[in-house]
Formats: sequence, structure tokens, C-alpha cells
Amino acid sequence: MQSGACVCSLLPPGFKVQSSTLPALSRGGSRGCFHEATMSHLPVKKKCQQPRNLPADPQYCVRFPEVVLCLVEKKMGISRKTFLTSLARCKGFCVEDASNERVTHVVSEGNSGNEVVEWLKRKGNRCVDALGNGLALLDLSWFTESMSAGRPVEIEPRHRLMVTAQAEKLEPKCQVAAYACQRRTPLEQKNQILTEALETLAEEARFCGSDGRSLAFSRAASVLKSLPWKVRKIQELNSLSCIGEHSRRVLQEVLEDGVSAEVERVRQSERYQTMKLFTKIFGVGVKTASRWYQEGLRTLADLQVHHAKLSKEQQAGLLHYEDLNTPVKRSEAEAIAQAVREAVERCLPDASVTLTGGFRRGKQSGHDVDLLMTHPMEGQEVGLLSKVVGWLDQQGSLLYHSIHRNSFQSFEDEDQEIASSASTMDRFERCFSIFCLGSLPEGIPKAASEAQGSGNSVPVSGMSSSWKAVRVDLVVTPFSQFPYALLGWTGSRNFERDLRRFCKHEKKMVLNSHALYDTEKRTFLTAASEEHIFQHLGLEYIPPEERNA
Ligand code: CTP
Ligand code: MN
Ligand code: MN
Repeated sequence: MQSGACVCSLLPPGFKVQSSTLPALSRGGSRGCFHEATMSHLPVKKKCQQPRNLPADPQYCVRFPEVVLCLVEKKMGISRKTFLTSLARCKGFCVEDASNERVTHVVSEGNSGNEVVEWLKRKGNRCVDALGNGLALLDLSWFTESMSAGRPVEIEPRHRLMVTAQAEKLEPKCQVAAYACQRRTPLEQKNQILTEALETLAEEARFCGSDGRSLAFSRAASVLKSLPWKVRKIQELNSLSCIGEHSRRVLQEVLEDGVSAEVERVRQSERYQTMKLFTKIFGVGVKTASRWYQEGLRTLADLQVHHAKLSKEQQAGLLHYEDLNTPVKRSEAEAIAQAVREAVERCLPDASVTLTGGFRRGKQSGHDVDLLMTHPMEGQEVGLLSKVVGWLDQQGSLLYHSIHRNSFQSFEDEDQEIASSASTMDRFERCFSIFCLGSLPEGIPKAASEAQGSGNSVPVSGMSSSWKAVRVDLVVTPFSQFPYALLGWTGSRNFERDLRRFCKHEKKMVLNSHALYDTEKRTFLTAASEEHIFQHLGLEYIPPEERNA
């Protein structure tokens, strides 16, 4: 701003300025430009607050049709931008949004040329190229001088923002390996707001059946989880792999504005909310939830009406909905593991029970309890699961269970199939169950069928604090496969997915929860421990607590 000019003189005749609502025209070094009294309480950058004494959208006459201004809101803030817009219009300048193709002059305050180009692109401007050609990218000084002069002043080099050929690059503070199984991902991570945004989009994509898109968002989130620092600028992610354009756009929005409009829109959408509600029912996947949504069902009460259409598993899931969606605490998981250990001890004394899944990775809560059982003498484990489940059921510990028989016959039979299969599902004998932690009071229906029979059609979970329904996965594995089963069931899912991908693409091997197969040597590799499996793969051992990818 030229010295001696006063902001009041820049306003059209008859324009009243109230000191409390007028943002400073030029920050810092604006010696003597403003009345002292107005400076101290001027909002410098306050989003969502419009100056109340300036007309919202007055019909000014355009005096300079060849100049169309665009004010860069980034760093300037809405309040200040609104003020400067009104000021320019009062002076006869035309001001438009960034996406408007008539824009000729872009005015920014406090941003680099590269930042302005990136901002313009994000706002949908198609006139500017990567080098900033196509538009005049100008510092606020050109604007203030033009306002003082009452006309667009000549653009001088000092007014122009410089755009460097390569986008401003902040080197990442560390390199991130391409596969999650090559990275250490502790439970405590530094970028939760960012990863949550991406995971919402991953979930939404999954709800739409777009598994590839879902995977892309999950991978990007997984990379961020492994970063040992809190990301503050989008450029810090420049050389990281697995962060695609879409993820990057969302991250930039969250970094700059605190939220992403797209993510918020998803979270508010009826379809997303309903899909989330339905898929949280035990036994309900995306396909079923999607069909119900298309049929117009929206609430759990709607499902009660169509109760007969539900499988036994889903009926149990609905009945215990509240409990099953209350996080399982570590102490509860330990208590269940102990109860199962006691049952196993009765049926087969030397068999072991290992707590795996998220709790093995150090989580303090989870959505279920994953237990692996084995016996050091191979073959002894056969028949163990039905005995244990039978005993637990007899004790009243199971609210629901369904046993799936082992379909893994022998290595010879499976050779062909394993080598070619992309299936992630293992074929151990397993039981998906709902455990009753604590004792069920008299009169509370245990199963959905009983709830129906007694005319009780509302979910019973959460009605009493003396017991709680908890999802438990029980898996039995032959001793020789135990390290593979342990590795496969410890997760996280991202970690497991990348382990298999790494094996396939980097090692020409096939890994699942039973075995590791070398497709070139056509042999299975035996392992006595998880460490041994990592050795086979030439990977540094990652302990369970650092597999939270
Ligand atoms: N898993 C599997 N086959 C299944 C189900 C799960 O191999 N049919 C594996 C998954 O790959 C995962 C692990 O078992 O690595 C645990 O799965 P899950 O219980 O769903 O997730 P957790 O990581 O334990 O998370 P949470 O704490 O929410 O239970
Ligand atoms: Mn689990
Ligand atoms: Mn599980």
C-alpha cells in the first residue's frame, strides 16, 4: 500500500466503516495506513464470519472489463477475502471465482507461486498451467496499489509470484517401503485424522463394490500410519508411494481446512450410514446390506419386521447388536481366552490356546477375540474343536456357534490349488461364535429363535450389565502349520495383504495361513516360528506390535 493512503479513502463515497468489522487491508508493515483505532481489533483471518456492514452482493458497475480478478482465499481467509472483494467491486473491478474462465488476474497473500497454481487447480481453474502460464499470478501489493490508484496499475516484476519448474518439494523425513510387511507400524500413530478420512473413503468404496478403489485408499492410509512424524504439509508426501491423486487431494483439503468436504458428504449420506449400520450386524456383508438398502430397509427395526429373511447367524447378530458393537476390552478377551483354556484342558490336556488378532498386536480393545488352538503332537488336535465347543455350550457360555469343518486335505491335493489361488481364506476347522461373558440371567432369551418364541422382538444385548455378548473366533491348526496360522491370524489385514503380495511379486511364492509355497522350486517351506517365515522371505522380522498397518 502506498504510504499516506487511508483505507477509508479507498471506499466509495458514503461508505461507512465500522472499526470492529473491517479486516486489515494489508498485514504487517502497513505503517500508518489505517486509523490506529481500527487496527487492534481487526479479525485477520476468521473463516465463516462476513463483515456485516459491507453490502453482500451489490450491483457495481464494471469500469475495467479487461481485468477479471480472483482472490486466493488460502491464507487470506473468507472474512478478509469478502472485504477485499467488496472493495474491488466498489472501485469498478470485476471479481470472480477461481473456476471462472474469465479470470485474468489472480491475487494472493502469503502464498508461493506454486501454492497458488496448486490451489487454482484444486478449485477447478483450467486456464493456468503447471508453470503458472495463462494467468497473471500477483501479490497483494499489486492489488493494494491498484485500489489506491483507482485503476489496475501496470504489472511490474516485483508484483509477480514466481513459479518454479518443479513443484516445491520438501524431502520426506524418511523413505517408506512399498509393502506394509517391510514397514514398522506401531499402534500409536501420528496422523489419525488423515488416516480416518481415507479409511472412510475406503469403506464407502467397499460399500459401492469398488474393491480396487477401496484398496487404494486403504493402502494410502496404511502408509500414513507408518510415518513416525505428524504430516503438516502435503509436500511431505511427495515421494511416498501408494498415495494416489484422489487420496492426495483429500489429504490436502484436510491439512488446509481441517476437514474434507467429500469425506463429510460421505459420512452424512443416508446410504453410507445405513450400510454401516447393516454391515455391523454379525453375518451381514456388503452384498446383503446393499440389497436391503435397495429394498428400502433403513433401520434395525425394519429388519425385525423381515426377521424370517435373516439367516440364523444374522438373527443372532441382530439380537446382540448392541453388545457386539461395543468394543471388547483386553481384560474381557483375557477372561474368554482363560475360559477356553479351561475347556481345552478338560478335552485335551496338552493343547494350547493362543490369543491372536488385534490383541496380539497390542490393541487394548477389539471387535472380537481370535483364538488359535493346537497340540504339539500332530493329529491330536483332530476332533478338539467340537469337544471344546460342546463343553462350552453345555456350560451356557455360547449364545451362538457354527462350526466349519477343515477342508484342507493334504499338501499334495492342495498343491495345484494353493499355487494358483488368490484366496485369502484359510481352511482350518473353525468356529464362529458369540460368547456369553458373565452369566445369563433367567428369562433372557439366549438365541434369536427363543426371542421370537417369547414374543420378544427387540435386541436383548445391553439389557443387563451382568453379562455381555462377545464375538469369538476359534480356530484349530495342526502343529506344523501353527506358525503360518499365527502369522495369518495376527493381522492386520493390510499387513497380511501386503505379505501375500510381496511373496507373489517379489519372491514368486504363495503364502497363506497354512503354508509357504515356492512356485519356482515347487516346494513347501516348513517353519518352526514366525521369525523363521520372515527368514524364508528375506524380510526383517516385524514383531506383532508393529504390524498395525
Ligand atoms: N482372518 C482370516 N480369515 C478369516 C477372518 C480373519 O484369516 N475368515 C484373519 C485376518 O486376516 C486378520 C485376522 O484374522 O489378519 C484378524 O481378523 P479380525 O478379527 O477381523 O481383525 P483384528 O485385526 O483382530 O481386528 P479387531 O481387533 O477389530 O478384531
Ligand atoms: Mn479380531
Ligand atoms: Mn476375528
